[in-house]
Amino acid sequence: MKKSVKDVDLKGKRIICRCDFNVPLEDGKISDDRRIASALPTVNYLLENGASVILISHLGRPKGKPNEEFSLAPVAKRLEELSGKKVIFAKNDAVVDDSVRKAAAALEPGQLMLLENLRFRAEEEANDPVFSKELAELADIYVNDAFGTAHRAHASTAGIADFLPALSGFLIEKELRFLGGVLDDPKRPFVAILGGSKVSDKIGVIENLMRKADSIVIGGGMAYTFLKARGFEIGSSLCEEDKLDLARELEEKAKAEGVELLLPVDSKCADRFAADAGFCIADNEDMPSQMMGLDIGPKTIEIYEKVIKGAGTVFWNGPMGVFEFDAFAEGTRAVAEAMAKSKAVTVVGGGDSAAAVAKFGLEEDMTHISTGGGASLEFLEGKILPGVACLQDK
Ligand code: 3PG
Repeated sequence: MKKSVKDVDLKGKRIICRCDFNVPLEDGKISDDRRIASALPTVNYLLENGASVILISHLGRPKGKPNEEFSLAPVAKRLEELSGKKVIFAKNDAVVDDSVRKAAAALEPGQLMLLENLRFRAEEEANDPVFSKELAELADIYVNDAFGTAHRAHASTAGIADFLPALSGFLIEKELRFLGGVLDDPKRPFVAILGGSKVSDKIGVIENLMRKADSIVIGGGMAYTFLKARGFEIGSSLCEEDKLDLARELEEKAKAEGVELLLPVDSKCADRFAADAGFCIADNEDMPSQMMGLDIGPKTIEIYEKVIKGAGTVFWNGPMGVFEFDAFAEGTRAVAEAMAKSKAVTVVGGGDSAAAVAKFGLEEDMTHISTGGGASLEFLEGKILPGVACLQDK
């Protein structure tokens, strides 16, 4: 158990709080502000308990150099709108310099400040202790609430804890409770649904969940590597040729562990990769050679819905098809809807599956939607997250 913001007296303290404000931007506008909203419980708690707060985050991958395109200015604005509090935005390409130090030192209890994108400094991703110290010197206590970035060992997510007492925020606590619950004490049957395009991205998760889950349900582009490994013709569907042996090994392991590994039995196939592609439904045995599977088919949907209905816990990461194209969103929608309807504990890994749940308007119906894409996957692989490991134990 990690020490949290609730475990210390915050009155009159200056807190530097790492958040994950890495939000999607479209034409400079934030298209999804869930990561900002998710930081509010911690930010409000710190302010209401007499602390002054300096928020820090990265946005995108500006490669260690200032770049206006990645400025946190839109985040400062949205944070003000969502929190109803004044945000002092320290717009400064150096992130920390004398003027920022002065402004931080002048903060009064209850005041909120946001620094510029940490990745404007190459030292951030290099986990350079000099930069960690520069950040640490602005405050008395470090709080990490950036679950989405907890798999990165950077100056602001790990190194900084060498210089300050390090506590967890409420978001990290909540993510660990739900994702940890899935791994350590799932209500059974535990069904893990894994999709997305590549088997290679999910090997670690499949292997770890193989030891925990009762059923592993596969969909999305990566299903075709498994189907080809079983000997099916998959037309021009996505396939990682160099992962065919691995797919066979994973099937063998599932058998050995007594875990049911479900693959699609049919697909919605397209004549090209486009929203308005011509399509047909085909069983695995009849996949047309010129076509590609872009979604699971109706028979598969029926099977997967039934498995979800009977589950005690469902963890889902990765879409079942190209849900960004309406014609190929049915499988992903069906999984999301079946989870929304089910009485099971339903946990959605971040990234694309969280975006799909939002697109279908089902967010309120899930037990937990993680704010971490890569971080939730690494956690479910059983890896130690540096941004959590660096926090003080209770
Ligand atoms: C994410 O969006 O997964 C996190 O913010 C981490 O971003 P990164 O992959 O650029 O480190």
